[in-house]
Amino acid sequence: MTDSNRLIIFDTTLRDGEQSPGASMTKDEKVRIARQLERLRVDVIEAGFAAASPGDFEAIRAIAAVIKDSVVCSLSRANDRDIARAAEALEKAARKRIHTFIATSPLHMKMKLRMEPEQVLEQAIQAIRCARQYTDDIEFSPEDGSRSEEDFLCRVLEAVIAEGATTINFPDTVGYAVPEVFGATMLRLRERIPNSDKAIWSVHCHNDLGLAVANSLAGVMIGGARQIECTINGLGERAGNTALEEVVMALRTRADYYKFELGIDTTQIVAASKMVSQITGFAVQPNKAVVGANAFAHASGIHQDGMLKARETYEIMRAEDVGWAATKIVLGKLSGRNAFKARLQELGIALESEADVNAAFGRFKELADRKSDIFDEDIMALVSAEDHAH
Ligand code: KIV
Ligand code: ZN
Repeated sequence: MTDSNRLIIFDTTLRDGEQSPGASMTKDEKVRIARQLERLRVDVIEAGFAAASPGDFEAIRAIAAVIKDSVVCSLSRANDRDIARAAEALEKAARKRIHTFIATSPLHMKMKLRMEPEQVLEQAIQAIRCARQYTDDIEFSPEDGSRSEEDFLCRVLEAVIAEGATTINFPDTVGYAVPEVFGATMLRLRERIPNSDKAIWSVHCHNDLGLAVANSLAGVMIGGARQIECTINGLGERAGNTALEEVVMALRTRADYYKFELGIDTTQIVAASKMVSQITGFAVQPNKAVVGANAFAHASGIHQDGMLKARETYEIMRAEDVGWAATKIVLGKLSGRNAFKARLQELGIALESEADVNAAFGRFKELADRKSDIFDEDIMALVSAEDHAH
C-alpha cells in the first residue's frame, strides 16, 4: 500500500483539537466545521469520541447525517461498550470508520492502565473483532507508540492487522519523537511485521517540541505512511497537533520533492482556519505559517520592490491558493517609493508630476516614523488637493 502516491488527510480538529483546554465546541459549531472540512475535501473527519459524553455522541450523530464526501470517524477505547457507542453514533454515515486505541508503552501500561502487556494485546485483538461487526474500515492506534518497545509493538500490530484493522496509526502521543528516528522506527516496524502491507500506515504527531509537521513528513518519506492526522491551526492537547495547513502546503509547495497526490482544495484553508479560530476563541498568531495575518504580508522596502516586479521573489506560494484575497503590501517606514506609488495607483490617485510624487512620499515617510500602521485613509489625507491632477 505504500506504493500508492495518494496521501490520505485525516482531520481530527473536532476530536483531538477539542481536547485542547478551553476549545470545547457545541454540536452546531461542530457541524459547521465538519461542513467546512468537507469543502476542504479532507478524506476523513474524526468527529469526536462517542463514549466520552452525550454531547460528543450527539455531535458525531449530527455530522454523520450530513457529511457525504468524507469518511466520518469516531474514536473509541478498546472495549466493546465504547465501540458499540461509536458504531451507534456513526449509524447514518455514508462512509464510517471506527478508530480504536490502547496504550502500549511500558509507562502507560503499568502506571495508567495497570495492565500486563499480554492483557493489552488481548484487549487490542478483541477490540478489532468487536469493531468488525459494524464496519470494515477500522483504524487502530497503539497510544504512546513512539515510547513503546518495538518487539511488543510488532506483536500487537501484526495481531490487529490479522484481525482486520485496515489502518495502523502510529502516534507520537507526547510529542517526544524527532524526525529521522520517528521515520526509521516506522520503517522498521513495517519491515518486521509480515502482514504490514495489508494496512495503510498513518502518522499522528503532537507538537510539544515544535516537530509535529517535520515528524509527519518523516513518517511519510522514511516510514512509508500514507495517512497524516492533523488539525486546523494545529489545535490540540498541550502544544497541539500537526497543523493541516502547514503539512498540506509543504506537500503542495514542494511537490517537486514530495510527489504525492492530495484531494485537498487548498483555497478553503483560510476559511477553515478563521472558522475554527472564531468558534474556539483561539487567536491565530500573526506570524503563523500559511494562515497567520502576516503570512503573505510584506513590509520591507526591498521585499516590496521585489514583489512589485515579480511575486516569486519573496512568495513561495500564492496567497490566493490558500484562500487569502491577495498578498498584502503593508505600507510603513520601511516601504520604498515604488510601493508607495503602486498604492497611489490602486487608490486611483494620479499625481501630476514626479515632483508631486516625491513630495507626497516625503510626507508619507514622516508620518510612517510616527505611526506604525499606515491605512489607505492616511494616504488619501496626506496627498493634498493641490497634488491631484484630476
Ligand atoms: O495522541 C494520541 O495518542 C491520540 C490517540 C488517541 C490516537 O490522540
Ligand atoms: Zn493525539
